[in-house]
Amino acid sequence: MPTAQDAARSTSAPTGGYDFVVVANRLPVDRVTDADGNASWNRSPGGLVTALAPVMARAEGAWVGWHGAPDESLEAFDDGGMRLVPVGLSAEDVELYYEGFSNSTLWPLYHDVIVAPEFHRTWWDRYQEINRRFAEATAAVADHGATVWVQDYQLQLVPQMLRASRPDLKIGFFNHIPFPPLEIFAQLPWRRRVLLGLLGADLVGFQRQSDANNFLRCVRRYLGYTVKAQHIHVQDDDGQPIRTARAEAHPISIDSAQITELARDPEVRARAAEIRSELGDPETVLLGVDRLDYTKGIRHRIKAFGELLADGDLHVGQATLVQVASPSRERVEHYIALREEVERTVGAINGEYDTMSHTAVRYLHHSYPIREMVALYLAADVMLVTALRDGMNLVAKEFIAAHADNRGVLVLSEFAGAADQLRHALLVNPHDIDQLKGAIMEAVRMPGTESARRMRIMRRQIVANDVNRWSRTFLESLEGTKA
Ligand code: G6P
Repeated sequence: MPTAQDAARSTSAPTGGYDFVVVANRLPVDRVTDADGNASWNRSPGGLVTALAPVMARAEGAWVGWHGAPDESLEAFDDGGMRLVPVGLSAEDVELYYEGFSNSTLWPLYHDVIVAPEFHRTWWDRYQEINRRFAEATAAVADHGATVWVQDYQLQLVPQMLRASRPDLKIGFFNHIPFPPLEIFAQLPWRRRVLLGLLGADLVGFQRQSDANNFLRCVRRYLGYTVKAQHIHVQDDDGQPIRTARAEAHPISIDSAQITELARDPEVRARAAEIRSELGDPETVLLGVDRLDYTKGIRHRIKAFGELLADGDLHVGQATLVQVASPSRERVEHYIALREEVERTVGAINGEYDTMSHTAVRYLHHSYPIREMVALYLAADVMLVTALRDGMNLVAKEFIAAHADNRGVLVLSEFAGAADQLRHALLVNPHDIDQLKGAIMEAVRMPGTESARRMRIMRRQIVANDVNRWSRTFLESLEGTKA
């Protein structure tokens, strides 16, 4: 990773000329400064970055995004085979556009109102302003006729803004999170503006067909456009059809080959064995890996596990739950409350059931490099993905990819997009704690032949449908779009 000084040396203003441009809220790197003031770049957390970094490294394109540090403007620079174009955000931009509209209005609204979304006009104003900033930065680097791929809910207005200034571009948009049912989307005061923003794209991609269907229904209802199958007849201000856009499902995936390779690495395997022994060699290691987010059902999972200990179905020493909860959006109110609640519950369970030698829940509020994550997947017998709502959930797919040994059982929420593909997981409704407890016990007791059978089928799915295939099929579909 280059240092900030390296970046400053290689600096020059963006000159355009890139014919493949990814636009995302985050750059695939974060700028971090240590206590002594030394700056460096770290790979950013999150599924989006994991999914797109290998694609971009091959494509020699440009990536427009925020570098993660407020109140700092950086010039564009080259890194890892791509041009990185930082979009600066002030501390106030972060508060109003990122923590506010993106993560306290859209995020809860699009995740089925698990917590109440807040609607503030000042947030919306700043959301528009920052989307314009991203659109302008993109227009400045994209070559004539370039393909631009806009990512996720933070940037839903960018497609329309870009089309207005650069009608020569081919524009794709991919929504990584769910698109809510009309009855929920209806609450958004700026619902028409958001739909119009998205329809600046030639192709609007979603994780699940149900997300695409929700979107199409909203377009029909709130814009009155004609929708035929996946095709939308976009109209001008006078109601005349001007072009066709499409909405399609393109479920995202992971770099399966990279995970499988890591899982075969003797050092990683040794680390997996070491983790089990550090946990006191329990018979069963259960694992949860999430950003610390209220959509992930972490509380439901811990509650189910705590009840299984209380019921005497599981015992400390025999079973341990490892919960990795990586820090996320730490200044947003509901995230602060969630952290407090999770840590209180974990403390109560451990206080009740821990012994001198073993713990009930090993809770880790950290993020880890991918090598350590693969070692953890290998160390685990049962993976618990209990999201209350999740666009896809790449952790479920990583767990499957890591188990080239066909060991392990996945308990998977039916409300995660991954459930559409991983039909051989133990599918659960995480709100149903009794069902969840039943599924955990079924996973713990599942005979090796049965878990291997399920794992083999799911691995075939994940290996055949990796992130390269996701980006290829999306981009092929985009290229085939008639303007
Ligand atoms: C989800 C979103 C991404 C986001 C990531 C991390 O996966 O779909 O757009 O980057 O979470 O969240 P953060 O707020 O830290 O970018």
